[in-house]
Amino acid sequence: MKITSSTKLLAVIGDPVKHSFSPLMQNAAVRALGLDLCYVAFHVRPESVGAALNGMRALNIMGMNVTVPHKEAVIPFLDEISDEAARVGAVNTIHHIEGRLIGYNTDVYGILTSLKETAGLAPLPPTVAVLGASGAARGVVYGLGTRPEVERILIYNRTPEKAESLAREMSPWTHARLESYPLAETELVAGLRSSQLLINTTSVGMHPRVDESPVGDGAALHPDLVVYDIVFNPLETKLIRQAQAVGAKGVGGIEMLVYQGAKSFEIWTGIYPPVEVMKAALPRR
Ligand SMILES: NC(=O)c1ccc[n+]([C@@H]2O[C@H](COP(=O)([O-])OP(=O)(O)OC[C@H]3O[C@@H](n4cnc5c(N)ncnc54)[C@H](OP(=O)(O)O)[C@@H]3O)[C@@H](O)[C@H]2O)c1
Repeated sequence: MKITSSTKLLAVIGDPVKHSFSPLMQNAAVRALGLDLCYVAFHVRPESVGAALNGMRALNIMGMNVTVPHKEAVIPFLDEISDEAARVGAVNTIHHIEGRLIGYNTDVYGILTSLKETAGLAPLPPTVAVLGASGAARGVVYGLGTRPEVERILIYNRTPEKAESLAREMSPWTHARLESYPLAETELVAGLRSSQLLINTTSVGMHPRVDESPVGDGAALHPDLVVYDIVFNPLETKLIRQAQAVGAKGVGGIEMLVYQGAKSFEIWTGIYPPVEVMKAALPRR
């Protein structure tokens, strides 16, 4: 990669951001396509989000990814956001065009594409259980709700009120029936019996709490489930091992990350990047 005075900058902002895989995979795509771009990571604290976006305008930074915890906080500083990002209530991609900052949400594309390409689910099954009700869950539930074949979405959360409000907020955008439950063993056993796909969007099982699982001892899992864990650090979570132990298919979230990044890259450059190159740039474990 040759950096000159005409090289355009791309970046990710987050807090923390040191462990982000985005620079690795995005720069791999830049190199493969021979573009004059460079992607870096900026550690931005919550009180500096507005200043960071002003800096994006001032320095003519071409595009940004936004990661935890800023996906909602950036919205007031943008000139425009896509309908999808507005409905999800989170922006993970910003495109800077002639002084205007436009926000998108490519996590929705990431999960739907990974369910199809990685998990082999095309079409999606009629009943899907989602664990969690925070930022990531919003994109997942919205994305599932846009699919005509999905008839029921069961949302489970430790704090049940958040599952209720997520179901309420997303119901105008979907024909699917949205149900909310506490994340408790008895509720899970009953709900998973009629579900064909389980998606974990909680942070349970993520490094460093790698010995934890959002489904406890896994008694609610069954062999006819596909279990998709959007956590990608570690690549194989305890939940995935529990799924495999009962004969279910277990899929990790690393390819969701790749596909959301690929879509961001396309928004910035107009080119859909080689996803295999991006995947190959990521750590293997
Ligand atoms: N693969 C990808 O591309 C991708 C994209 C986005 C996010 N992610 C991953 O998704 C995960 C969640 O992201 P997020 O931004 O939504 O994080 P977050 O806001 O921290 O989400 C927290 C969620 O986890 C639940 N939770 C936390 N600790 C729990 C516990 N001990 N027991 C039960 N539930 C618990 C919370 O429940 P309460 O509401 O009760 O607190 C809430 O629903 C992270 O691991 C992130 O890396 C992956």
